[in-house]
Amino acid sequence: MKQREFTIHFTEYERLDELSEQQANLVKRAIDSAKHAYAPYSAYRVGAALLLGNGEIVTGNNQENAAYPSGLCAERVAIFYAGANYPEVPINMIAVTAIQNGDLQEEPVSPCGGCRQVMLEKENQGKTPMEVILYGTKRIQVLKQATDLLPLPFSLASKH
Ligand code: THU
Repeated sequence: MKQREFTIHFTEYERLDELSEQQANLVKRAIDSAKHAYAPYSAYRVGAALLLGNGEIVTGNNQENAAYPSGLCAERVAIFYAGANYPEVPINMIAVTAIQNGDLQEEPVSPCGGCRQVMLEKENQGKTPMEVILYGTKRIQVLKQATDLLPLPFSLASKH
């Protein structure tokens, strides 16, 4: 028997102007995207922005549906768009933001489990760390790689 543990390292900032210009710009693009979310059921608008390896920025927001499970989170809308249109290009950075009752969320927006699984597979596919910026007006958390968000992820058993 063995006791084992995971340690997650991340950096916390208080303000947007503490981030690099590239990071701050990505957050702003995520905020813009959140404003255009289709969230009539939850009224919780999420925006995600991706910086691709070719320098392009792809954005996405949550898209809800009257058949609730048919909707999709902002992170996956953005990542699947990138996968469909730039299949060979890695994602170097992702920023996530949310707006509720017209205000930006104070605490950092932490992606749901399903999005974490998708983020880490995309990171593995791209063979490049995907920096993750979780934005809140009170604090901003930055993780060096998406894998840090999901210990013990699901993976298909390798065939023998
Ligand atoms: N949502 C996201 O877009 N990203 C997440 O990581 C968690 C939740 C969306 C789904 C739904 O449209 C709304 O937020 C409320 O759960």
